[in-house]
Amino acid sequence: MSAFVINGGRRLSGSLAVQGSKNSALPILAATLLVHGECVIHNCPALSDTDCTIRILKELGCKVMRSGNTVTVQNSGSNVFEIPENLMREMRSSVVFLGAILGKCGKAIISAPGGCEIGLRPIDLHLYAMKRLGVTVDDNYGKLVCEAKEGLRGSKITFSFPSVGATENAVLAAVRAKGNTTIVNCAREPEIIDLCDFLNKCGARINGAGESIITIEGVASLKGCEHNVICDRIAAATYLTAIAVTGGDVEICNTVPGHLSSVLPLLEEAGCEVRVRCKNIRIKAPRRLNRIDKIITQPYPGFPTDAQAVFTALATVAQGTTVIVENIFESRLKHVPELVRMGARIRTEGRVAVVEGVERLYGADVFSPDLRGGAALVVAGLCANGETVVKNTRFIDRGYEDFEDNLCVLNADIYRKVKKDGRKENPEK
Ligand code: EPZ
Repeated sequence: MSAFVINGGRRLSGSLAVQGSKNSALPILAATLLVHGECVIHNCPALSDTDCTIRILKELGCKVMRSGNTVTVQNSGSNVFEIPENLMREMRSSVVFLGAILGKCGKAIISAPGGCEIGLRPIDLHLYAMKRLGVTVDDNYGKLVCEAKEGLRGSKITFSFPSVGATENAVLAAVRAKGNTTIVNCAREPEIIDLCDFLNKCGARINGAGESIITIEGVASLKGCEHNVICDRIAAATYLTAIAVTGGDVEICNTVPGHLSSVLPLLEEAGCEVRVRCKNIRIKAPRRLNRIDKIITQPYPGFPTDAQAVFTALATVAQGTTVIVENIFESRLKHVPELVRMGARIRTEGRVAVVEGVERLYGADVFSPDLRGGAALVVAGLCANGETVVKNTRFIDRGYEDFEDNLCVLNADIYRKVKKDGRKENPEK
């Protein structure tokens, strides 16, 4: 098990280019299954989640090579339609392969992904969409056998909730279906737009990505293409909060500021100076942050649930009280008790957290409860007095590429402590 060791109190400075989007790269890599030929995906972040996705593609018969942040996928056309259980368990978001495998093979066998650290994560909306496209689903004790006996056929799909993953699966299955599909009340996240841009480059006919209604005209085949994955807006938000809590002054590059339209105003409310120039965001933070009145997570374009934890960390050292409401996942406040160990003053009731800002946090040994909660503890450690040890970095490694190295580039004092055979590695020794 490895841990991040952080000595807090240093102001972040300099500039940093933000990684490609994990939540865009995963469905796009799955989508390469639908393509005959070679796809070249640039700006694909090197993460444990993308590594797992690449292993699944290889299990499904694809040839995959990575060179830096470029991943090349050769789809051999093999008819493997079952994802091994161990890989499904390693990464629950591999459920997004369901639509792609059905689109390619007309049959798919996956194990029910099950819940994770932030909630039960049901997939009823995914299965509803597949059934609307002519798929039968048999649940054999957790193994889902899905089959389109007469082939996938276009239909109207109306979601009761704009689920990101269910929208992605519906798109992936519909692009190769016979006939037209309309998806109503679909997710509008930028990652949906990026997936549809990729598929349209391959010859799909998708309209309305980014809106609440997407229409798809099924096509017989898709050809390979080259694609640049969009910037990771959640990684960008994470670095922005790290700069804010340390009174820093940094230029964040290679972003899509428009994807942060519900995040940047909150940083300004907290007293930061935020200047946008093309793909760059310059943020200058005050010595002490003002409070943010309330943070309420919503589907895009509302405030992103994935940025809630790091903004909770920001609120702990702001001047005043912030009310945080987590509307998307039922147990996404697990970072709160860890922040309280660092001296934060937070009361929670269900999905609501009331944060009373304090002058300073103090360093402590804390555990990452999940991916974004772990990032929030690193953000808190950067502004805490003394040393913070954030354990369970494996959660953080799922979504942040070169996290500690990037923070060091910005003048943070952080290193990764890895226990190998009981020995501790420490850069000082
Ligand atoms: C995607 O998860 C992201 N993951 C999540 O990011 C993100 O938090 C989430 O969208 C919301 O933006 C990836 O893209 C890989 P949902 P997803 O389906 O697709 C309920 C991160 O930190 N729901 O929009 O699973 C569900 O329980 C991760 O990078 C159903 O009830 O999110 C949740 O309460 C975490 N039935 C809500 O909808 C379903 O069939 C939102 O889920 C599907 C979802």
